[in-house]
Amino acid sequence: MPRLVPSPLIAAVGIGAVAFATTLPAQDRQDDPDIEELQERVTDERVLFGVQVDGEVTDDLLKKGRLVAMGGAEAGGADMACISCHGAQGQGDGSGAFPRIAGQAGWYLYKQLMDYASEARPNEVMTDVARNLTEHEMEAVSVYYAAIDAPLIAPLGDVDAETLQWGGKLAAVGSSERGIPACANCHGPAGAGVPPTVPYLAGQHSSYTEYQLQLWADGARDNDAMNVMSAVAEKMTEDDMKAVSAYFARVRGEDAEAAEDGEVADSNEDD
Ligand code: HEC
Ligand code: HEC
Repeated sequence: MPRLVPSPLIAAVGIGAVAFATTLPAQDRQDDPDIEELQERVTDERVLFGVQVDGEVTDDLLKKGRLVAMGGAEAGGADMACISCHGAQGQGDGSGAFPRIAGQAGWYLYKQLMDYASEARPNEVMTDVARNLTEHEMEAVSVYYAAIDAPLIAPLGDVDAETLQWGGKLAAVGSSERGIPACANCHGPAGAGVPPTVPYLAGQHSSYTEYQLQLWADGARDNDAMNVMSAVAEKMTEDDMKAVSAYFARVRGEDAEAAEDGEVADSNEDD
């Protein structure tokens, strides 16, 4: 795995990508992350680790990533603009139709794009998107999203306390009767992820998480090297999946505190 070396001081320069974003609501455009801010986070392990970048995470690479995010890939266009589905800051969509990708480990994001392209993780939308990206564009957009520290979106809907408690238990200790390992074993104590390979679950939209668990249980998603996730998901009932997904969607910060039902978390408190 090539080491990434952050380049020192880089001036933020506006780019001509704004033209690709004209279909977005004004509010979204205003939220575009600033390259200078992103550079400050380039030493973060999520950004640094394992992304197969030849050389350094330069401002050029970040700008390339931003361009791709806005639909400016070589084979780009409006239907390729990541921001139109994943939001201006990669925060996804509360309904869970579009996952949060901001701050996810760069290597993990890159691997998912490769897996969509090869159909190790087939998906109608993302397979097409990924196949239209060059490898360099995949790297750039992965580094870009890894560097973004976007606010968390409040989870939609109410979940009863019992469900959240059960979800929290599965997350922290698993279920010995059913042979479900604690998610925390691999995804980190607060579901914060373990870069470069294990994604965060904390703050991810619950219906997305739930859907992925179902895909693994059904064998439709089969892209992790050791098959760990299908083995985990196969042992879970639908209620287990719902509970653990609802729980993680409400975890804020590093102390694994489940937010009050429906509480609005308007900032990412983990730094
Ligand atoms: C038309 C909507 C759409 C566009 C455009 C789009 N995505 Fe997605 N993306 C999705 C959906 C839907 C999923 C969930 C698919 C699944 O269930 O596997 C997803 C999933 C992903 C994932 C997997 C996240 C995870 O946690 O495993 C990554 C990475 C991703 N997209 C990156 C991108 C990038 C980078 C772009 C732009 C080059 C992009 N997407 C453009 C809809 C879109
Ligand atoms: C033995 C390690 C291990 C355990 C235990 C584990 N996971 Fe995972 N999980 C992984 C790895 C590795 C990946 C990344 C797979 C890939 O590359 O796509 C992953 C991915 C996921 C994803 C996909 C996230 C996304 O953004 O698409 C979900 C959802 C998930 N795990 C949920 C869980 C839940 C819930 C539990 C506990 C019940 C759990 N995992 C336990 C290792 C583990």
